Amino acid sequence: MAANFVIPTEMKAWVYREHGDVASVLRLDPEFEVPKVQESQVLVKVLAAALNPVDTMRENAAVPGYDLAGIVVKAARNVKKLKVGEEVRGFTLHASNGTLAEYTAVEESLLALKPKKLSFEEAASQPAVIQIAYGGLEKAGLSPGKSLLVLGGASGVGTLAIQLGNEVFGASRVAATSSTGKLDLLKSLGAELAIDYTKVNFEDLQKRQSEQAVKAIKLGGSVVTIGEHGKTKPPPAFSFVATSDGSTLAKPVIDPKGPFPFSQAIEAFSHLQSCWAAGKVVIHPIP
Ligand SMILES: NC(=O)c1ccc[n+]([C@@H]2O[C@H](COP(=O)([O-])OP(=O)(O)OC[C@H]3O[C@@H](n4cnc5c(N)ncnc54)[C@H](OP(=O)(O)O)[C@@H]3O)[C@@H](O)[C@H]2O)c1
Repeated sequence: MAANFVIPTEMKAWVYREHGDVASVLRLDPEFEVPKVQESQVLVKVLAAALNPVDTMRENAAVPGYDLAGIVVKAARNVKKLKVGEEVRGFTLHASNGTLAEYTAVEESLLALKPKKLSFEEAASQPAVIQIAYGGLEKAGLSPGKSLLVLGGASGVGTLAIQLGNEVFGASRVAATSSTGKLDLLKSLGAELAIDYTKVNFEDLQKRQSEQAVKAIKLGGSVVTIGEHGKTKPPPAFSFVATSDGSTLAKPVIDPKGPFPFSQAIEAFSHLQSCWAAGKVVIHPIP
């Protein structure tokens, strides 16, 4: 029999009160209205969330956050796949409700069942970065025998790209760059060559990464970029933008300074923006 949950009308949620720097405009609202589920949505009790750089740009009056892991506490009439009581996770791209809140309403198509072997914080750390790393490598045509260079290997997306390049796409050799303190992390994830970009004369840091990457590849190689939106890329570099379809896999890499409790979301955002983060900045527990 499906579990029954008592759902309050109000909840705690972090909300952008105006545009501006996260630390000065993000506020904890203890009486935010719990969202209503639309036709094919479920209401999720959020137990863990993870931050992505895009969360610093969410609109005025919105709750930030796209990554989540939690429990389905209500399902609208047209929900086919998920049931109340199931543990889920997802990257809730385009959802109007954010995940830095006790509850969020999400299309069921954006969620997948949480792998049992992962904790909620591990499960929340992966959805967005798996999809961007997997999709980017696929679009770049990485296949067995080819080699891969990941610029920004200690970032959320980079940590997944190293692992997927090795284990899923069968790259013959994976190299990655990071600042000095994160080289061991790159190696532990499977990078055969961990390049300290602050010491090796590989990059002119004033230049954009796509330009540096184009110089590094062999004839016939590909360069896929996930940042530098709206800027032209030197050929053969091209942009990849993530979509959301609720997929799985790989080892979670949670930034060791976290997980940050819900009350410390502003500290978590500062850490994300500090350059010190390695892997994913996770928020857990959520009250
Ligand atoms: N196209 C898409 O759909 C899509 C989706 C997701 C993300 N993105 C973009 O992809 C990029 C990477 O995303 P991510 O989530 O992997 O990033 P992230 O986890 O926040 O990246 C953090 C890493 O970036 C490096 N870094 C260099 N300069 C930094 C700075 N000024 N502030 C903070 N970190 C800095 C640091 O490593 P080192 O110390 O080694 O430099 C740090 O470990 C971002 O530009 C993001 O907006 C695009």
